[in-house]
This record gives sequence, C-alpha cells and structure tokens, in this order.
Amino acid sequence: MCGIFAYCTYLTEKDRKEICDILCTGLQRLEYRGYDSAGIGIDGDTEKDVILFKQVGKVAALRKLITESKVNFGKTFINQVSIAHTRWATHGAPSPINCHPLRSDPTNEFTVIHNGIVTNNNELRLVLQKKGYKFESETDTEVVAVLFKYIWDSQRGTRLDFTTLVKIVVKELEGSFAFVFKSIHFPNEVVTARRGSPLLIGVKTEKKLKIDFVDVEIAGPDVEKGAGLLAPGSSSLGSNFLVPQPAGMTRTQSRAFMSEEGVPQPIEFFIASDASAVVEHTKRVLYLEDDDIAHIIEGELHIHRLRREEGKSSVRAIETLELELAEIMKGKFDHFMQKEIYEQPESVVNTMRGRVNFDTHKITLGGLKAYLPIIRRCRRIVFSACGTSYHSCIATRAIFEELTEIPVSVELASDFLDRKTPIFRDDVCVFVSQSGETADTILAMRYCLERGALCVGVVNTVGSTISRESHCGIHINAGPEIGVASTKAYTSQYIALIMFAIQMSEDRISLTERRKQIIDGLHELPAQISQVLHGDKALQQLAKTVLANSRSLLIMGRGFQYATCLEGALKIKEISYTHSEGILAGELKHGPLALIDGDLPVILVMTRDSLYPKVQSALAQVTARKGQPIIICNEDDLSISKEYRTIRVPQTVDCLQGILNIIPLQLLSYHLAILNGFDVDFPRNLAKSVTTE
Ligand code: AGP
Ligand code: GLU
Repeated sequence: MCGIFAYCTYLTEKDRKEICDILCTGLQRLEYRGYDSAGIGIDGDTEKDVILFKQVGKVAALRKLITESKVNFGKTFINQVSIAHTRWATHGAPSPINCHPLRSDPTNEFTVIHNGIVTNNNELRLVLQKKGYKFESETDTEVVAVLFKYIWDSQRGTRLDFTTLVKIVVKELEGSFAFVFKSIHFPNEVVTARRGSPLLIGVKTEKKLKIDFVDVEIAGPDVEKGAGLLAPGSSSLGSNFLVPQPAGMTRTQSRAFMSEEGVPQPIEFFIASDASAVVEHTKRVLYLEDDDIAHIIEGELHIHRLRREEGKSSVRAIETLELELAEIMKGKFDHFMQKEIYEQPESVVNTMRGRVNFDTHKITLGGLKAYLPIIRRCRRIVFSACGTSYHSCIATRAIFEELTEIPVSVELASDFLDRKTPIFRDDVCVFVSQSGETADTILAMRYCLERGALCVGVVNTVGSTISRESHCGIHINAGPEIGVASTKAYTSQYIALIMFAIQMSEDRISLTERRKQIIDGLHELPAQISQVLHGDKALQQLAKTVLANSRSLLIMGRGFQYATCLEGALKIKEISYTHSEGILAGELKHGPLALIDGDLPVILVMTRDSLYPKVQSALAQVTARKGQPIIICNEDDLSISKEYRTIRVPQTVDCLQGILNIIPLQLLSYHLAILNGFDVDFPRNLAKSVTTE
C-alpha cells in the first residue's frame, strides 16, 4: 500500500537540498496510494554516515521537519544514494520510530525501506534477540535490517558483496515485499528486491540509451542455500551460517547499457512503487519481476535472480512511459476524485478507442485475439475481483450470460481463496483490478494459474502484476486514477467487460441485432455521460438539503442496477463515512423493509428496463411505510409522481444504463464528503492499492 522512492546518482552533482526536494516530491506523487507516515534516508557528511528524517502524517509535515533541521543543505554530492518511503502500518502503530527507513543499529549500518509484510518476522526477531541484537521499533521490517547486520557481522574473512548479502537475507524471508537497501558499508550502491509488491526503476541519462533491455544474472548454487536461519535443526545462527562464495556474476553479462563504449557517463536512477513518481524525471523505465534483485553500482544496473528457473525471461525490457505528468495532476479540479468523475466522457472513449468499429458494429480486443477460440470453448467463466472492480463484474454478468450462454460466476477474490473453490483446466478466469496489484486478486489469479485455467486480466495499470502474469487481457485505458475512491475505472471496466462479452459472441448470428443495439448504445455514451454531469449542481443541492445529516442510507434496484446500488453504497461509505447499503429491491420484503420509515433516506434506481414494473412495486412498498425515496429515473419518464424527488438521467440500452446511473451516485458521495469536511482523495483507513491480504 505504501510508496517506495529511491534516488541514486552517478557522476551527477546535486546538493543536499535538491536531493531532499526530489525525495519529498517523489513521495508526494505516491501519496494517492495511501499512507500514515513518511521518512527519508540520505547520505551524511562522511561515507560512514546516514541521516534519517521520519514524520507521522503527511509528506508536507516531513518536508517541514527536513527544512527546519540544522543539516548542511549546501553540501554537494557527485554520487549518492537516498531512500524515501510512505508507510501504511501493518506491524506497530504509525510513529516516528516505526517509520521507515528502519535501521540495523544506532549507527545506521544498514537501512531499509519496505512495502508489504514479512510474515516470519516474529521467529526471526526471536532468533536475532537470542544472538544479542537489539530492536527499537515494532515493525516487521526492522528484522530485515538487523538480519543484515547479523550476517555482515558473521562474515569470516570473506567480504560479501551487497547483492550476495541481499540474497542471503531475502532467502530467509516469508511474505510479500518490495525492498530498497542502503548501507554505509557500500557507499553509493543500492539494492532492491521484490516479491509480490510492485517496483520499477527509471533511468535518466543525457544521451539516448543505446540498449533497451538489461540482462538478468542467475544466482550461483551457494546462495541458493541461504543462511539457513530458520531451517529445521538449525542449532544456532552462527554455527549454521554458511558463508557463500561471491556470486559468480560476470560484469560482462550485465549490460552497462547506459554508458558509451567503456566511458562512464552521468546517470540518475529512480526506484519507485509506480511510474507516477518517476515520470517527471524520465520516461525510460524497467519493471522488476518477482524475485528480481537489482543492484545499482557505479552507474550500472545489474539484475539478479534468487534462483535458477527454466523458461523465465532472461532480460528486462526498458520501456518508454506514455504517462504525462499533467495526467496525474488535479488540473482545474479541487480533488482528484472530482477530476476523475468529470473525465468519464473522455475515459470511456479511451477504453473503446481502436477497439469498437461503430460502422461495422465489430469489436476487436487485440489482447484477447489469440485466445478467443479457447475462451469460447470454456465450460464456465469465473470473475474474481475486490471492491469496485467486483461491482463491475456484477454489473456485466447478465450480459455475459446472455451473449455467451456460458455460465458465469462472480467471486470476491478473498472469499474465493478462503473457500479454495474448485477450478479446472477448461475454466476461463477473469481478474478485474484497477491497480493490477491488489493482493487478494493476484493470489486468486495465481491459484487459478496453478490449476491450469486460462487467466484473463482486466486492468488499468500497464506493467502491473496482473497484466504481466495473466495469459492475456484487456487494458481498460482509463488513465491514472489517483482518488482512492474508484470512479472512472469503474465505468471503463464496465465497458471493457461489455466489449469482451460482445467479442465472445460475435460468431452467434442470432445475436447480431442485440450486439448492434449495444454498440450503438456505446456510441452515444460519452455525450450522455456529459449530460448527467450537467446535473452536478442539483446533486450538490440534494446532498446539502436532504442527505448531509443522514446517518444511514439505502440504495435499491434490480437486475442490471443491483451493481449500481452496491457501487453507489460503497462510494458513500468510503468517502463520506456514512453507513450505506446497496440492496436488491426483490429482497426488500425478506428483511430490509423493516428499516423503512419516514427518516431513513432511500435511493431507488428505477430507470426503464424489463424489470421496471417490479421496481415500481418496491417503490409502493417503500412509500406505504412513509419512506421518502429519491428516484433515479429516465429524463422522459412521466409516470413518476411529482411528489417524489428525482434524479433524471438519459436512457440507454438496458445493459449500459448502469454506466449512466452510477454517475449521480459518485457525485452525491463526493458532495457528502465535502459537506462533512472529509479528505475526499485520501479517506481515512483506506489505501488506493491494497497490496496486502
Ligand atoms: C474503490 O473505490 C475502492 N477503493 C476499492 O474497493 C477498490 O476497488 C478495491 O480495493 C480493488 O482495487 P483494484 O481495482 O485496484 O484491484
Ligand atoms: N510491514 C511494514 C510496516 O508495518 C511495511 C508496511 C508498508 O507497506 O508500508 O512498517
């Protein structure tokens, strides 16, 4: 959930002030991921010195702490390594001492920043404590720093290199992580490792890069054994510790891709959890894969693997980012969420761009093409996702079933794993995730991969774990979504899934008319979304006059609109902290009706489709109990009595109507949060990217 940012320069003069600025700005770009505290570690005045700054709360507070400190900001560095972190506490409350970087000892021999959880931290801590090592924080991460020191101290005559040391340490760890390590024993060197948490490296040079990939170097057999710290039968750390030979890595294999033939050139490296922190410095990035260890030394980038694996790619490509910084800034809006709601007329077009031919009524999803024959032959389709992404699956399940006539199930990824659901080789499993980094969804995907099912990713973040590890998929192309509350990703996921369903059914002649109707509907959508957005002022008023002081809220509807209710309720609870429930109107009489009285606000989604008469009966049941419903209905629906408050939206095809209906609910939740004075983009207790189970 947290953000990692590190900055490493080689033959590039920077003063300390500039370095601190770059670090804090990098962290600010990652703020949207959610965090509770922040810290940095920079080079001190000598090579044996590291300076740490840590602060609870926002990056702005950390910046202030740094600015007000007495360090010499004018000191310049030609080569340096600095690390920065926004923390989302999993072990130990947010506090300056628990903030990252964590260190091995009071002299800062090894400093570490970490995203994720080290699940065997208690066992390691106990062993290290028995060896006499002291701890100052409650974090799982500190164990890693102390473990470094232990292994360093245990060397018998052989001076381990930094990478070998990291390999030994990482071998001992269980759980998920992205790490960046710094050490006074290896000045101007930095090592990163990842398993389960995202990490990328940006490369900035004056001259154009000659090579667009980096060779991967494979671990030697000695390191395979690790330190054996917790191995069964290990009597003590010292006796069991195996000093490995320096890894058999040959420099020649590694690509000094950024230097002229033999001539070192100035270079800057940026290590980050995602591209938003790097893009203002460079567009050339390399995504690390699980079990990659990257070592930056003297302007060179070496990538190692923890173990030998057959069939794994032996290079990492250096990609060029398409992301513009302006795309991740707020522009004229007050909040990212507001900006993202307003981007929807455009973002849905981007999702369809190059994929929908409105003249021939054909859909082409390049990322699925090669796999379509297999997908069409499957026995069933299983969707797995969390939160909003789960709702987009619910929203499109019926149209999938209608167009493909294949049974479809929709699973909450965490529950899917808890149940150990049976999955077979002839299943198609679809994983929907805005970030592509949600731990539950990734684990569900790996579970299905292991069982031989075809795995399809539907993600917004290019290069994310789900997009890389799935067999094929669709990028929803909604652009970066920064507000923790997902809005434009929902509508884009919705459209991507509709396109998927249409493409699967294109060989069914009997459904030609239905497909044509939906594709024509898609064509109208951007203008209709703009029209809904024009109602924003009225929605703001409604939030203020009717809903602002409510403690609870029910949203109900049927069929295609059930997902709208669930998603609307999630938006409201997530950012305005008001209890809110989305229910199927058909379930009303089986329980929720007991809640209805003259006080509880009810929003009824009653746009025209085949279930309209049934929703009318739900309306009657609510009003008979003195309920005062607010009705989301079509603009030309004259059958609704004037006594009711209405939110009017244009009409579209039944299976697309949810895209228009969710927008008023997104806006209402936004206004409710603002009226209550809440931080819309960073709601309490929540994070954008939930990378822990
Ligand atoms: C949405 O508003 C929430 N922040 C949350 O439910 C989110 O949709 C969920 O965590 C899944 O995230 P993903 O799409 O990145 O996998
Ligand atoms: N588990 C670590 C901690 O609690 C890192 C959490 C994070 O990902 O920010 O400090």
